[in-house]
Amino acid sequence: MSQFKRSLVTTALPYANGPVHIGHLAGVYVPADIYVRYLRAKGREVVFIGGSDEHGVPITIKAQKEGVTPQDIVDRYHNLIKKSFEEFGISFDIYSRTSSKTHHELSSAFFEKLYKEGKFIEKTSMQYYDEKAGQFLADRYIVGKCPHCGNERAYGDQCEACGTSLNATDLINPVSAITGNTPQLKETKHWYLPLDQYEGWLKEWILEGHKEWKSNVYGQCKSWLDNGLQPRAVTRDLDWGVPVPIEGVKGKVLYVWFDAPIGYISATKDLTPDWEKYWKDKDTRMIHFIGKDNIVFHCIIFPAMLKAEGSYILPDNVPANEFLNLEGDKISTSRNWAVWLHEYLEDFKGKQDVLRYVLTANAPETKDNDFTWKDFQTRNNSELVAIYGNFVNRALVLTHKYFEGKVPKAGELAPYDKEVLAEIPCIIERVEKNLESFHFREALKECMNLARLGNKYLADTEPWKLIKTDEERVKTILNICLQITADLAILSEPFMPFSAKKLRGYLNKDSLNWDEMGADVLPEGHQLNEAGLLFDKIEDEEIQRQLDRLQATKKANEMNNVKVAPAKPNISFEDFQKLDIRAGKIMAAEKVAKTKKLMKLTIDTGIDQRVVVSGIAEYYTPEEIIGKRVSILVNLEPRNLKGIESQGMILMVEDADGSLAFVAPEKEVKAGSEIR
Ligand code: MF3
Ligand code: ZN
Repeated sequence: MSQFKRSLVTTALPYANGPVHIGHLAGVYVPADIYVRYLRAKGREVVFIGGSDEHGVPITIKAQKEGVTPQDIVDRYHNLIKKSFEEFGISFDIYSRTSSKTHHELSSAFFEKLYKEGKFIEKTSMQYYDEKAGQFLADRYIVGKCPHCGNERAYGDQCEACGTSLNATDLINPVSAITGNTPQLKETKHWYLPLDQYEGWLKEWILEGHKEWKSNVYGQCKSWLDNGLQPRAVTRDLDWGVPVPIEGVKGKVLYVWFDAPIGYISATKDLTPDWEKYWKDKDTRMIHFIGKDNIVFHCIIFPAMLKAEGSYILPDNVPANEFLNLEGDKISTSRNWAVWLHEYLEDFKGKQDVLRYVLTANAPETKDNDFTWKDFQTRNNSELVAIYGNFVNRALVLTHKYFEGKVPKAGELAPYDKEVLAEIPCIIERVEKNLESFHFREALKECMNLARLGNKYLADTEPWKLIKTDEERVKTILNICLQITADLAILSEPFMPFSAKKLRGYLNKDSLNWDEMGADVLPEGHQLNEAGLLFDKIEDEEIQRQLDRLQATKKANEMNNVKVAPAKPNISFEDFQKLDIRAGKIMAAEKVAKTKKLMKLTIDTGIDQRVVVSGIAEYYTPEEIIGKRVSILVNLEPRNLKGIESQGMILMVEDADGSLAFVAPEKEVKAGSEIR
């Protein structure tokens, strides 16, 4: 990395069609932010680029669903997303958007240059068209079965289940996402980037030149390249996007995956007039942070575009992550299966760092990982509170108690002191090594090892006991603890910037430098501020509330999925009249012994009082149903159930989740009244 003068760090531009959730943070924005904060702390030159992806079908579909304009949608979500990132301390130098003027101009010029230089192929082909909607079905407007993995809901441009990038015509049984109709094929003209012509170059650049890329990234690229590349359309028949800048062409826009990555360039241009040094100087190291579904676009298609254009640098690394699941299930915006960042902040005010910590400790770096609320609680309570927070708090509180909050002077060091101090540079080195190679989980673990080291040192030396007999020794111990605390404030900043800042406040040190770590950061006599708690315990009830919410979501989704039984064949009116159904009332109820479901009911039918055995015991207790109105079929042939003669049947409705409810007269009526 040292041969580079500066870094350009980009993060995937999220579609501005919904809020952002923990999956976004874990996969892309937190690791990128840690990396950038680290580079800044080391004094390296870096720009950190983000923004919203505001074009493409995801936006127009959402707009159509809500009956508003695409502009309304992107305005709403761009602002919400931007705010969420700010609140979580994602320290972008700019958070831009692809509907900006700069971006329209730049992406348009980019296309035009390639067009004029003959870098595209012009091709007329048959594409899916929805007669009823009166439009071509680009990308997500068409869904069908993925030919690779069998996922039934693959899109026209990509299967999110297996990550494969598709053409709409690859889909099995395609249907329109607008009308649900089977589409027709219709002729249309588009421009294609002949990726096949870049195959040889890509093979050499990636497969030979970037063997250091993460194995999940390298592997996906290799499989793409081994399968052979095809020309890929870079325009679409849509009216939302950057218009195709060719004379006489109307109703066509640039493919969203053509314009969006150019958004990294336009955002840099919006940031600084000096943007070209980041994009055109070989001394710049460009790094794309993305999720695994974006690999092909960032490793193959965008580089081919950049290569075709000719004046830009290429990414040096693309540290893509796998996916984060939530409580064992794939995160999904449409099924509302997510922890939304703006909602998290309402429920866990001021606890941004806890989420940053948990998502990093459990980051899906090499495989898909699972976020569970239980793990969230445990990591907070037994790591952040019990180790980091506890150590720092004790060091500060003891210093206030014994030495009026002034850093005491270290005397002669004991062998154990030296051993502990010698461990610090090793930890720092391991954190650095892991950060530079994008191993954020490992880096965080090492950072916590510094807190562990301090915590153990304090527990082993027990200054609260020594204070009575050996104040000089206590001075040395607390001096060491405070130096470790200061180191921790520096080392943990990239991971937990809010807590690091708080800690600097307690230490009465506005700024601390990375290079100071391991030395005596706090001079003897330095006055500390009053200390508060860095982290606090998260109680079971708070976790249960989150689990209950997810449970409710799951239930709502299940209910949505249950198919209503088809109608039965018709019967005659005479058949219906044979049923003698009466209004009745439950006079007595008791569970039938040795059964789970059965309840013995005594019903006042108006005609008589009779016994009915009913399968409702899992849903009602006897107490709550005595006195209830019911509808009872009185002329059902008596049946023997568990030795009890059941004389009729109570009408119940079974809900989609299998639970039961009484079907009864809606107001008080005379028992025995006929239901018909
Ligand atoms: N909007 C895309 C997604 O959410 C990512 C675009 S990244 C960019 O998957 F490079 F195109 F900007
Ligand atoms: Zn698939």
